[in-house]
Amino acid sequence: MTLTAGCDVGSLTTKVVLMRRRRLLAARVIKSRVNPQAAADQALQQTLNDAGVARGEVVLCIGTGYGRERIPFVDDTRSEVACHGRGAAWLLPSARTVIDIGGQDCKAMRIDAQGRVEKFLTNDKCASGTGRFLEVMASVLGVDIAALGDLSRASRAPVRLASTCTVWAQADVIKHLNAGLPVEDIGAGVNAAMAHRVAILVNAVKPERDVVMTGGVAKNAGVRATLEKLLTRRVRKFRKADPQLAGAIGAALLAEDNLKARI
Ligand SMILES: Nc1ncnc2c1ncn2[C@@H]1O[C@H](COP(=O)(O)OP(=O)(O)OP(=O)(O)O)[C@@H](O)[C@H]1O
Ligand SMILES: [Mg+2]
Repeated sequence: MTLTAGCDVGSLTTKVVLMRRRRLLAARVIKSRVNPQAAADQALQQTLNDAGVARGEVVLCIGTGYGRERIPFVDDTRSEVACHGRGAAWLLPSARTVIDIGGQDCKAMRIDAQGRVEKFLTNDKCASGTGRFLEVMASVLGVDIAALGDLSRASRAPVRLASTCTVWAQADVIKHLNAGLPVEDIGAGVNAAMAHRVAILVNAVKPERDVVMTGGVAKNAGVRATLEKLLTRRVRKFRKADPQLAGAIGAALLAEDNLKARI
């Protein structure tokens, strides 16, 4: 039976999934660290162990992400947009607009029913509007990145950051902390500033329903809620799997397509 793998080596995390007949068998997310090859090897081995299959049973493996050219075991590579588009369509077939926010860039894309990308825009010029912005601010605030999103719900009066530039915003956050403002109000301001940056990019691709988010920042409820307000649309959640896995899932599905085309 056809077993394919997708490996997405991002700037912050490495994701590996194993799929068989469009079903997800196993998945791992680990930090990319300084050695993406080692991270990819480790994540692959873990998924093989989880699924109880041998390396030789994987018929085709496709790599994607920032570090895709450095993965030793992949048979082929695809762009991040192609993989996130395909992965998002599997996660929610009605998805037509995909917002992928990872550690170092943000992409907005429109896809068709098969997950093929029709149009996309990227912001990779600056840290604001990326997961890195949130990580810097979470560390200044002394909160875990996974807890930052929920501060928006707890906040009664979100602060308005003077700038969305990471350097200036960091100084602003420190100023608000020193002034004794509640951490949840500053955190909510950070999430909102991020969403404002992202909304500009998303509006530029003329979003259509359904709108979804992929990448690790999709797990930040505060960014999601502000984006919904700014776009005046719901940003649908996935039930099938972690949104951070979308690129790796898309890669494994493209591998399966590739095998079918060969028959
Ligand atoms: N549990 C979580 N809750 C909220 N946000 C999270 C969580 N885990 C990760 N993140 C956010 O996701 C970001 C990393 O996302 P992701 O793993 O998709 O990046 P990446 O694929 O390595 O980066 P890129 O695609 O830009 O190269 C982190 O910077 C952080 O902001
Ligand atoms: Mg990524």
